[in-house]
Amino acid sequence: MERSARKDGGCWLLVGGRRRLGRALAEDLAGDHDLVLTSSRPWDGETWVDGLSERSWIRRLHWDAEDPGLVSRMMADLDTLQTEGRVISGAVLLAGNFPLQPLGTWTPASLETTWRLNVSFPFLCAQALAPCLSEGACLQIILDTSIHHPWLKRLPYSAAKAGLATLVPGLAQLLAPRVRVVGHALGALLPAEDDPTGFLAERTLLKRIGEPADLCRAVRFAADSPFLTGEILTQDGGRRWVDR
Ligand SMILES: NC(=O)c1ccc[n+]([C@@H]2O[C@H](COP(=O)([O-])OP(=O)(O)OC[C@H]3O[C@@H](n4cnc5c(N)ncnc54)[C@H](OP(=O)(O)O)[C@@H]3O)[C@@H](O)[C@H]2O)c1
Repeated sequence: MERSARKDGGCWLLVGGRRRLGRALAEDLAGDHDLVLTSSRPWDGETWVDGLSERSWIRRLHWDAEDPGLVSRMMADLDTLQTEGRVISGAVLLAGNFPLQPLGTWTPASLETTWRLNVSFPFLCAQALAPCLSEGACLQIILDTSIHHPWLKRLPYSAAKAGLATLVPGLAQLLAPRVRVVGHALGALLPAEDDPTGFLAERTLLKRIGEPADLCRAVRFAADSPFLTGEILTQDGGRRWVDR
């Protein structure tokens, strides 16, 4: 059952707020925010969200980058929230994937699939959300430290994140002064399955990978910094300054 109480931090929408970093952010924010979480799959059986619903108002939405009716679904969901009097005071776009696509494997279909989720989807979400965000809201977009040094075996993914690196300052100009836009270029915050030797940690100045709490802190910092817009904050343990 949904609780009706409102939290001081207002209502935030997390696109891709179900797994991994999205879940960690939802759990962090739930203490002082109402939350709208999206997933590409039906929400049944997510007991951790049921747990969060005990202390926060949570709405679960089904937004799938592959859905041909995505745009009208997003508009309908956002209309419903507005009709219910829910004002969105913050949003974070986390959805994406991290496909291995070395040179020689690229096809029109595989490139389109990568770019649909990693660049078209955030663009469409940002467009749908922009008019719904309240005055003073911050729209935050999750990028990758690959915007500084592309992943050579994941160039299509890196190109998608570079597209988002253009979206951040561009949207900041289009939405100012009502709404701020901030990006987060992340190094590894979760251990990679294909990195059993700790190679990623070794390739940072700090000799470790980060953790989801690093993202949570930065997201709160950006939301609470009213003079910050159009910027991309890099958190990668100094990876981009390591000689290659
Ligand atoms: N993890 C890291 O260390 C790291 C490092 C650098 C950058 N990042 C960036 O941080 C963000 C979160 O990364 P992550 O590692 O937590 O998770 P992830 O595995 O990359 O997935 C992020 C989210 O994308 C959603 N998603 C997958 N397919 C989708 C689709 N067809 N339509 C809509 N949503 C879809 C997933 O939710 P559902 O399956 O519920 O739909 C998931 O919550 C990503 O943008 C990633 O590029 C992460």
